[in-house]
Amino acid sequence: MILPDSWMTSGVVGRSVSEQPYPRPAYGGTFSAWVSDVLPALGSRVVQGTLTASGFTGLANKALAHLPSAATNDPCEARRLIVELGIVGSSVTSYSQRENLDLAGRDPGRGLELLRVGERGTPFRAYFSTLVAHSGTGHPDRDAYASLIRWNAPEMSAYLGSSRICTLPSVFDDGRIRTYTAEIGETLIIELFKRCETLELAANQALQPIWAGGTSAMSSDELAERFATARLMLAGVRRLLLEFHRGDERGTLSVPHFVDVFRQYAVHWDHDDVPPSGPQDIQFIVRDLMTGIDLPGYTRHVQRIHAGLLADERQLVTDAATRPSLPKVLLDEAGLSTVDVATASDSELANKLRRYPALGECYLLLELNARLSAAHLMVAKKYLYKPNRQRDEDAAAVAVPVPNDRGITELTESALDVLNRVRRRHVMAGIGRWRAAEIAVLCGATLQRDISMADALALFVPRP
Ligand code: HEM
Repeated sequence: MILPDSWMTSGVVGRSVSEQPYPRPAYGGTFSAWVSDVLPALGSRVVQGTLTASGFTGLANKALAHLPSAATNDPCEARRLIVELGIVGSSVTSYSQRENLDLAGRDPGRGLELLRVGERGTPFRAYFSTLVAHSGTGHPDRDAYASLIRWNAPEMSAYLGSSRICTLPSVFDDGRIRTYTAEIGETLIIELFKRCETLELAANQALQPIWAGGTSAMSSDELAERFATARLMLAGVRRLLLEFHRGDERGTLSVPHFVDVFRQYAVHWDHDDVPPSGPQDIQFIVRDLMTGIDLPGYTRHVQRIHAGLLADERQLVTDAATRPSLPKVLLDEAGLSTVDVATASDSELANKLRRYPALGECYLLLELNARLSAAHLMVAKKYLYKPNRQRDEDAAAVAVPVPNDRGITELTESALDVLNRVRRRHVMAGIGRWRAAEIAVLCGATLQRDISMADALALFVPRP
């Protein structure tokens, strides 16, 4: 198996394996233990109606009083606290808005004004901003995808056999996932996001040198292995998405809990901020830009979520957006235009595929990417758009802080349909005149079969 060192250290599309775990918190962990062990049960009581928003806020204030001055936190402690205070902040904001729906439109962050931190009673937003400055990450002044998902969930690595391709660290070392309520489905969805991001990073990292430098300096074996690895990782993401609704031995995420509870924490703290949601998974965005998504509004969509990203994530997607896509790089090498791919005769195109196997390899990748997108669309429809339509038909819709007729970043069902169609109508679609197995034979590629859930989970564990 070819697994060059450069795979481990490129770090161009994410964090490399060389990052060290974070040391233990210096603030004693009292508040940390409250967030992990007590807050979820209190959240469940608010959702069940046995604790009020102000009751929750009062208890949160007692726990927050244990924290030291924000200025004393080093970058590692600051990042842990951003995760924990992000959960506290979105809980208080969500509960306040539920009790007074007007707040969502008029003054979304009003609930946070009642929160104080530390002995000196520092206002919550000021304390949070100081943490952000001390974290050195350019984290938004509220919770974000990076903190809720990546920093919160345990460290995960993607493996090809015994070789580690990439690692996404956690800021905690207790193996736990912090949630808003005691419902296991929240743990499962946060874990799902981080698992998917880890495999997506592995895929992006495998393809990075080809995207950056083309194929001329690479052996045909390395080229084939990089594409095969990327396709295997994407097959893993697709399987995780398809099977998610089944849950595991710990339980499932029910549709009502997703609609009525979990996504209701994605409230605004300020009118124009960007609450955490799937579109801020930057490995998904980088893959879209790498595979050359052909949608005029896509750049605007990415810019809209900039405010929810870390500084290095913003830089990453900005840089990715300025580069020619991977299919474009490979078509240029083969002296083909996108029109040629559609109009060339079968024999001309077959000759090109034999001579430039990267074209067929890339086609197979783009097809898998489209199938992954379809799997995600299915999940989004199952968990949000379909139940919401059903409630409308049954006149059972209720007003909530986070509207259920569109996504958190305001993406409608038809916008997701369009994104999905565009991923299927990629620039190499003309190669699809043959079946995938035939294309694999023409270019000597390995055909990626659909993998089982057990195989997808095995990608997180080294194997001899
Ligand atoms: C149960 C799991 C999931 C559900 C119910 C779900 C649902 C949704 C919904 C409703 C939207 C529209 C969102 C908005 O406007 O903010 C969305 C968008 C998005 N989600 Fe998910 N999602 C799930 C898992 C994931 C995962 C694991 C990923 C990453 C692999 C992901 C990546 C995205 C992306 C990139 C978008 C933007 C739309 C697109 O590019 O197709 N989602 N999702």
